[in-house]
Amino acid sequence: MYNDIFVNHESMSIHYYYMQSKPGEVTQAVKDAIDAGYRHIDCAWVYQNEKEVGEAIKEKIDEGVVKREDLFIVSKLWSTFHNPKAVEPALKESLTALGLDYLDLYLMHNPLDFKPGDNVFPVDENGHVIPEGVDYVDTWKAMEKVYKKGLVKSIGISNFNKRQIERLLQLTTVVPVTNQVECHPYFNQKKLLEFCKSKGITITAYSPLGSPAHPWVKPGDRKLLDDAKLKTICKKYKKTPAQVIIRWHIQRGIITIPKSVNKKRIEENIDVFDFQLTPEDVKYIDSFDCNGRIFPLEMWATHPYYPFNDEY
Ligand code: A2P
Repeated sequence: MYNDIFVNHESMSIHYYYMQSKPGEVTQAVKDAIDAGYRHIDCAWVYQNEKEVGEAIKEKIDEGVVKREDLFIVSKLWSTFHNPKAVEPALKESLTALGLDYLDLYLMHNPLDFKPGDNVFPVDENGHVIPEGVDYVDTWKAMEKVYKKGLVKSIGISNFNKRQIERLLQLTTVVPVTNQVECHPYFNQKKLLEFCKSKGITITAYSPLGSPAHPWVKPGDRKLLDDAKLKTICKKYKKTPAQVIIRWHIQRGIITIPKSVNKKRIEENIDVFDFQLTPEDVKYIDSFDCNGRIFPLEMWATHPYYPFNDEY
């Protein structure tokens, strides 16, 4: 189920990270991705583009390029829907937008609950995020229910730290299949990866290429794709920096969701199954780690469930 290569499309939303793609680009990108062989499509309610993704899926199924069961469609429960009563309706909104009757995987987008309402990033007069007061354990129990109903084939989490995962495992019954977190050579999540592995939980890497176009990138910032040490490895394998990084993720057993809306780069990113890095080169790329988290989600640091104060 997890040995394919994955594509992640964000666009149009108010949040910085989701403004990467222009409206309309996403449908074409998903069609290009399916044509290129991608089968895992990583979506989220908050990306506000599930309808566009759904149009592409429908077109490719209608054309006979894929069947529904060939695809692995993921969505995520947004923080304003953490109240257990809100979980199934939120999931159904995503299903309707995507034009599907089930998801392959439903993730809790992060452990943080936000006050419900039209503002999906609610803040008080001091700019602090406003929690609803819902424990992510109760949200997870509601996710277990939609899983048991068959509306989703599996459930998982995103942006959880070790302590939060341990608490979830102690207090609930369904083990999350994956924890989707930021992961790339500058922030390689070695400890979280080992911990999750010991619990039977996979890691899915978001920003697997180091998000070269993230919104606060400044001229002169170190760019993973331009890393001179990485380029030396690329020469050896005659592969691009993105291909070497994706291969590194795969060989570490990590599910990888590189985002691209560019047909050439979409094709480039899946052209990684004709070579293998040596174990020494995997280790060498492991050594690039510099605790270089790109998305600390600092704007939510006052939230009681803010996940990134712990070591991992
Ligand atoms: P684009 O969508 O124009 O291809 P990440 O997945 O780490 O968040 O990185 C996504 C960013 O990396 C996007 O800006 C995307 O731009 C760019 N990108 C995706 N694939 C490649 C590639 N093969 N080479 C260079 N940049 C890439």
